[in-house]
Amino acid sequence: MIADLRINGPRLWQAIMKMAEIDALPEGGCGRLALSQGDKQARDLFKSWCEEAGCSVSFDALGNMFARREGVNNDRLPVAIGSHLDTQPHGGKFDGVYGVLAGLEVVRTLNDNAVQTDAPLEIVNWTNEEGARFAPAMLCSGVYAGLFDLDFAHSRKDDDGVRFDSALRDIGYEGKEACGAHPLGVFLEAHIEQGPILDSAGEPIGVVTGGQGQRWYNITIVGRDAHSGSTPMASRSDALVAAAMLVLEVQHIAKSTDNAAVATVGALTVLPNSRNTIPGLVSFTVDMRHQDDNLLSVMDQRLRQACEDIDDAKIDLEMIWHNPPVIFDKQAISAIRGATRELGYAHREMVSGAGHDACQIARKVPTAMVFVPCKDGLSHNQAESAKPSDLEAGCNVLLHAALRLSN
Ligand code: HGY
Ligand code: MN
Ligand code: MN
Repeated sequence: MIADLRINGPRLWQAIMKMAEIDALPEGGCGRLALSQGDKQARDLFKSWCEEAGCSVSFDALGNMFARREGVNNDRLPVAIGSHLDTQPHGGKFDGVYGVLAGLEVVRTLNDNAVQTDAPLEIVNWTNEEGARFAPAMLCSGVYAGLFDLDFAHSRKDDDGVRFDSALRDIGYEGKEACGAHPLGVFLEAHIEQGPILDSAGEPIGVVTGGQGQRWYNITIVGRDAHSGSTPMASRSDALVAAAMLVLEVQHIAKSTDNAAVATVGALTVLPNSRNTIPGLVSFTVDMRHQDDNLLSVMDQRLRQACEDIDDAKIDLEMIWHNPPVIFDKQAISAIRGATRELGYAHREMVSGAGHDACQIARKVPTAMVFVPCKDGLSHNQAESAKPSDLEAGCNVLLHAALRLSN
């Protein structure tokens, strides 16, 4: 009986552990940056597993991968399940990888039980979700959804000045199909919550109804290099002191807005970075998020005002990305909710704090997500961990939601 179908939890766990061997880090995490040789290995492994499972694998102009399992009625648009295989520099084993390999596990389970869905299924790996090497995040699902154009993606550079398009060609994943042309009927993404809500509630499932808004900035502060010993304090233009004031103000903007607002300075470089030269140049990133776009724009205004208030250095603020809050598709959400109830899992409805490819795809294709807890809500950290039973529950929800939508 279809209702009795369940995924193979140990097989899913093994696939995640095998994938985690690629660019494994000494403290148990993964450092598999987008378009690196490790990303290529992960893609090749994923492709071989999908082909072993009888899927045909294609990839578009930005390397977004689609592994297709034919259905009975192949002129119907496919039900897609996916996420991303790239990680943060000191990432965990589960962020993104879980959603891609849960899609593979759904296909393997249908194969085991010789179940043919009416609509075709596709497992998707979106390129450069993290935005750690090439900002902004969710770049290639963003191009697919029409939020960025191809040239913008191609022109993105990493800290070493390597362009996105040359890195993509170096790993051999620049496909012929235009990014955005690949037809999808509905998109489902399973992901660890990356926050504390489900873990502290002891609930295995989150029915995700949308994602919060995000704004990303690059800020450059120009002061003046000078001698640390012979330059009087009153005549300095110290870029790092100005940056320190702004870093504190970024935190203050979030804390003084409300309990939901978050803001982070994640990367900062100091030049010339010499202990006896007053820093003349500092650049850093700002990541601000809120579920309410109006409050997010107030936070934006306060950040711009704080930069204007700095008078002893020149400040350049560039907003490189604004993603308004997104609401997922009602029918896709009810497939996730219905499958969760049918399977009897404790659950709650929630908005995602983290960004996901689903938040981009939702602007073009009916989309929903299912969350599972991770230990202490910790993610983007090598200690990221999740319970096999929760990963299994989330994948069972994915299986039955996909069956509802494809039949
Ligand atoms: O930034 C994010 O929320 C995601 O992890 N890329
Ligand atoms: Mn992710
Ligand atoms: Mn992430």
